[in-house]
Amino acid sequence: MAILVSGGAGYIGSHTCVELLEAGFDIVVTDNFFNSSPVSLKRIKEITGKTFRFYEADMTDRNAVRKIFAECGDIDAVIQFAAYKAVGESVQKPLEYYSNNLNCTMTILDVMREHGCHNFVFSSSATVYGDPQSVPLTEDSPVGKTTNPYGTTKAFTERILMDCSKADPSLNIAILRYFNPIGAHPSGLIGEDPNGIPNNLVPYIAKVAVGKLEKIHVFGNDYPTHDGTGVRDYIHVTDLAKGHVCAIEKLARKPGLVIYNLGTGHGYSVLDVIHAFEKACGKELPYVIDPRRPGDIAECWADPSKAEKELGWKAQYGIEEMCADTWKWQSGNPDGYNTEKI
Ligand code: UFG
Repeated sequence: MAILVSGGAGYIGSHTCVELLEAGFDIVVTDNFFNSSPVSLKRIKEITGKTFRFYEADMTDRNAVRKIFAECGDIDAVIQFAAYKAVGESVQKPLEYYSNNLNCTMTILDVMREHGCHNFVFSSSATVYGDPQSVPLTEDSPVGKTTNPYGTTKAFTERILMDCSKADPSLNIAILRYFNPIGAHPSGLIGEDPNGIPNNLVPYIAKVAVGKLEKIHVFGNDYPTHDGTGVRDYIHVTDLAKGHVCAIEKLARKPGLVIYNLGTGHGYSVLDVIHAFEKACGKELPYVIDPRRPGDIAECWADPSKAEKELGWKAQYGIEEMCADTWKWQSGNPDGYNTEKI
C-alpha cells in the first residue's frame, strides 16, 4: 500500500516525504512544479537512500489524477499539500486561489471515492482562526473569520471535508492546522525556496544573512507583546513533517474526522527570531522598524496538547535548531534549488 503525497516537491511536502520514507512507507509523489523544483525530489532520495514513484501533474486535472490512481493501484491514503500559499497574492488573485485550492482537494476526494480510498490528510493552517480572541489556540477556538482569500480557502476546505465526512462515514480525515513552519532538514539538503522576494519572516532573514537582501523590515513595534513586535508559534518543519506520519498512523485506526494543531506552544517575537538567527549565523543582522503590515495579528500560538494526547506527537526542536538548520540550508544553497542545475 502507498501514500499519495500531492505537492510533495514543495517545502512542507518534501520534508514529509523524507519522514514517510524513513518510517518505511511507500510513497507516490505528485507536483506540477508551479512553486517548487525537481531538485528537491533528487535531494529527498539523497537523504533517505530510497526511491519512489513520481508524476508531474496538476491536481485540478481530473483525468491526470484518475490516471495516477489507476496506474498505481495501491494508493490507500493521500496527504494533500498542493495549493497556492502566498497571502498577499491571494488578495490580488482571489479567483485563482479559490479555484485552484478548492479544486485540487475536491478533485482528489472525488477520485479517491471512485477508487475506494478512504484516508485523507489535509494541510490546513492556524490562519483559519483569524485574529484570535485569546491564546493559546485550541482546536475548539472559533474558526472562519479569516483575513485573506488564502486563509479562506483553508477554512472553506475544512468545511467541505466536514460535509464529506458526514456524508461518508467510511472516510477518515485528519485536518492539520500548522502554525509557522520554519527551518530545514538538518542535512541542509532541502529547505524553503520561495520565488522572488520572500513574504515570510524567516526566509527574508535568511536572505539578508546570506547577503542577497540588504536589511530586515520589522512590520510594527507597537503591538501589545513583550517587545512590541508580532509573536508567532514557529515550528521546525521536520517536527511538522513527523506530525503527518503520526496522522497517517492515526487514520489507520479509523477515527472519522479529526483536527489537530501542530505547533510548539511557545511564542517568539520578530526580534526574538532575529536575535536567534544572529546566533545561528554568527553575525549581526541589520533591521529597520516599518509600519504594521495590513492584516497581521499581534500574537498567535498553539495549545498543541491534543496532538500529544491523541497522536503521541510533540515538537522536539527549539528556536535555536530552527535557525541553525535554516542557516545550514541557506548558506549551502544561496540561490535555493537554482544553486544546482539538473
Ligand atoms: N514579519 C516582519 N517582516 C517580514 C515578514 C514578516 O516583521 O519581512 C513579521 C510579521 O509581521 C509577523 C511575523 O513576522 O509578525 C511572522 O510573519 P510571517 O509572514 O512569517 O507569517 P504569518 O504569521 O503572517 O503567516 C504564516 C504563513 C501563513 C499561515 C500563518 C498561520 O505565511 O501561510 O502563518 O498562522 F497561514
